[in-house]
Amino acid sequence: MVKTAKRLEKVELSQVRKMFEITDENAINLGIGEPDFDIPENVKIAIIESLEEGFTHYTSNKGFLELREEISKKLKQDNSLAIDPESIMVTVGASEALYICAQGLFEKGDEILIPDPGFMSYIESIRLSEAIPVPVQVKFENGYKMKVEDVQEKISPKTKAIILNSPSNPTGAVMEKKDIKAIAELATDYDFTIISDEIYEKIIYGKKHYSPAEFSDNVVVVNGFSKTYAMTGLRIAYLAGQNELIEELLKVHQYNTACASSISQAGAYEALKGPQKTVNSMVNEFQKRRDLIAKRLDEIGLECSQLDGAFYAFPKVENSQDFVQKALKAGVVTVPGTGFGQYSENNIRMSYATSYKEIEEAMNRLETIKL
Ligand SMILES: Cc1ncc(COP(=O)(O)O)c(C=O)c1O
Repeated sequence: MVKTAKRLEKVELSQVRKMFEITDENAINLGIGEPDFDIPENVKIAIIESLEEGFTHYTSNKGFLELREEISKKLKQDNSLAIDPESIMVTVGASEALYICAQGLFEKGDEILIPDPGFMSYIESIRLSEAIPVPVQVKFENGYKMKVEDVQEKISPKTKAIILNSPSNPTGAVMEKKDIKAIAELATDYDFTIISDEIYEKIIYGKKHYSPAEFSDNVVVVNGFSKTYAMTGLRIAYLAGQNELIEELLKVHQYNTACASSISQAGAYEALKGPQKTVNSMVNEFQKRRDLIAKRLDEIGLECSQLDGAFYAFPKVENSQDFVQKALKAGVVTVPGTGFGQYSENNIRMSYATSYKEIEEAMNRLETIKL
């Protein structure tokens, strides 16, 4: 008999992954959470060159210095943050960064506030560290934006941290600056940590992204290359924050992976240093698709919030499990809202990281099902 650790019993496998693995070739897959674009050409060349030059050995555990210097510059330019290269750790995807935070910051019984609906890894990585996920409902009437009042209500003496995610997976919401600032002030006042997952920072339409780290020292920034540079399979991201904290969190990273892949780091370095025009054209294309899906969902009668960022729509339906099955029969893969928390059984997530033509066809198919 398999005897795993008790704490694994409470952890669930991802529902999104299950949809990812559906292989019906006639179905249009709106379940996928990654850009359908290839990595930028300059990044591809940099990776090939790094291989040819033998850049295939362990790097510094925090990531090679020149890359951390570029990340430090990026944080200054884009986010007005003064974070030196020694206070940055390059990780194996944002997934590892989140795992490091959970293992390095949370104790058994600590309460960790998370957006609900939200990215499912939050709950499960919190459970793996034996802390307690405390959902903060993000409400349809607020455009699914996390509001400071909703956070305040959930703070208790056991609150150790909160995870923010703007732009959001799965709702596409972008938080207001005033809420980000006010939540940052709460973190300072009540002395808890903000883990700010900014992975969709650049995939934003006509809004400005703010990092809570601008307003409080109690913030660990999680950002990466998966979404902005379509580098999901290269598994490369970073953590940035207070030097003392990063030095401590390094212990988890060292004994987990030692360092991120050297050639992925070389790709990430080029991604930051090189021209950004591929990012801009990808985001322009996403915006066109966003406009299309928002219009078609409205015509079909599926109520949706304002989609300001990331590449997801999160319309309301009567029953998400039921809808997903019907949509599948009609040849469209979607993800039930139940995969994102306890407050979204009447939602489904549709990713528009698929071609304009496929989105049009998917909407035509959905129109035929009885809602
Ligand atoms: C909100 C959010 N955070 C983190 C991640 C993980 O990103 P990575 O590929 O860098 O591990 C994802 C991926 O879907 C995501 O949606």
